[in-house]
Amino acid sequence: MPKTEKQFVCASCSSVSLKWQGRCSKCQTWNTLEEKQVFSQVPGKSKSTHSEPSKKLVSLSNIGAQQYKRLKTGFKEFDDVLGGGLVVGSLVLLGGDPGIGKSTLALESAVNIQALGSRVVYVAGEESPFQIKMREGRLNKSSSLDILPETNLETILASLSSIGAEVVIVDSIQTIYSDQSTGVTGGISQIVYITNAFMRFAKQTGTTIIIIGHVTKEGILAGPKTLEHMVDAVLYLEGERFGMLRVLRGIKNRFGSVGEVGVFEMTTEGLKEVTNTSGLFLDSASLGKAGSAVTCVVEGNNKAVLVEVQSLVNKTSFGYPKRTVSGFDASRLQLILAIVEKYLKLPMSNYDVFINVTGGFKLEERAADLPIALAVISSLKEYAMPSGMVAFGELGLTGEVRSVVQTQKRIKESFKLGFSSIYTGKSKDSSKTKPDPRIKTFAHIKDTLDLFT
Ligand code: TYD
Ligand code: MG
Repeated sequence: MPKTEKQFVCASCSSVSLKWQGRCSKCQTWNTLEEKQVFSQVPGKSKSTHSEPSKKLVSLSNIGAQQYKRLKTGFKEFDDVLGGGLVVGSLVLLGGDPGIGKSTLALESAVNIQALGSRVVYVAGEESPFQIKMREGRLNKSSSLDILPETNLETILASLSSIGAEVVIVDSIQTIYSDQSTGVTGGISQIVYITNAFMRFAKQTGTTIIIIGHVTKEGILAGPKTLEHMVDAVLYLEGERFGMLRVLRGIKNRFGSVGEVGVFEMTTEGLKEVTNTSGLFLDSASLGKAGSAVTCVVEGNNKAVLVEVQSLVNKTSFGYPKRTVSGFDASRLQLILAIVEKYLKLPMSNYDVFINVTGGFKLEERAADLPIALAVISSLKEYAMPSGMVAFGELGLTGEVRSVVQTQKRIKESFKLGFSSIYTGKSKDSSKTKPDPRIKTFAHIKDTLDLFT
């Protein structure tokens, strides 16, 4: 007889503890520990380590080049982020804040994919078929898309097999539950189990699956962050809740490059692609005012986007200065302020600093260091930089300004849009290129002070 042992498994986060507790020590939820009997030795299996050698060994030289079959979504921006379309048999996670437009993007794509001849099933866990029909009408589309209003995983998989679905949209993962898994619907253990089941289904049947997941700003509440390593591709739809622009960003892609972005505009008739992103994120009214700086970020392989950063620097009224950021990393701002304070002798610790990146864009590149520093100095000194300036450069801890990758692309894009001066870091090989009076390079943050006199 195999020996059994008692374990207590949290229904919310699946962590295991050996004794019962009222509150899970990992996820801190109350009354979620459930008793489980586990076998300390798998019954019917001997402890022998002998097993047959695998017959699957294969030499890479015997594998020919393979082209993935891809489906077009009807949105070039969406296809580009995916690396050329949805790879047949892949599992894609489409995440984003609630209300950002995930269902709209998925429905429009589903209708387009179906129109190109694939059988698409829309698993509707959140909305009724009637609501989806209303949305389709709003998008000025009419299709014979199959809607499956089910939330039980086993029922869904059985239905998909019998229907012979080629593409499946699951809206949303948080509403689906399985009888085979513990935990509450939408909880981590259910979500992980369901994603695994869909992944197996996709690989076994060659079905292409898009799973929609809600992610809160913090990225923790709803769980999809924990799924990133399990799926083939992870895309996030971002933007301001009440703004019009939406950025679709590739975070992970097993079949293409990551970091690609697609830009959309939410209109009264659904999402429309924005192919000319130049100048989109600029709020022209504030350009050329104190506290404003423009930067050029390169997203993915091919997109240069001009973004405005705004800063407001005010004397602090309390002992502890405030740092508030939107669209930029708060700890990176602390570092930039420390560099500014040290090398420019500006008393930043006496000032509150607010940073805002316009258009809901998130600046993740180090190239944003220089424009952020310039916007802060500009606001502090109440001295505007020339309205035609674009800055990009990384700051080092010793105050040096470094050049960044894709400098030429950024310069080209900025000039194309009518910007007249570029501020950037000095690169080692800048002496080799022909000097351009429109491009000013700084070796050290101290050199930027000239801009404010
Ligand atoms: P939705 O796709 O339901 O968001 P999610 O699935 O990410 O929660 O989009 C919801 C918002 O989009 C809602 O506030 C209404 C707006 N919207 C439009 O502005 N135009 C449209 O054509 C549609 C369908 C939605
Ligand atoms: Mg939705």
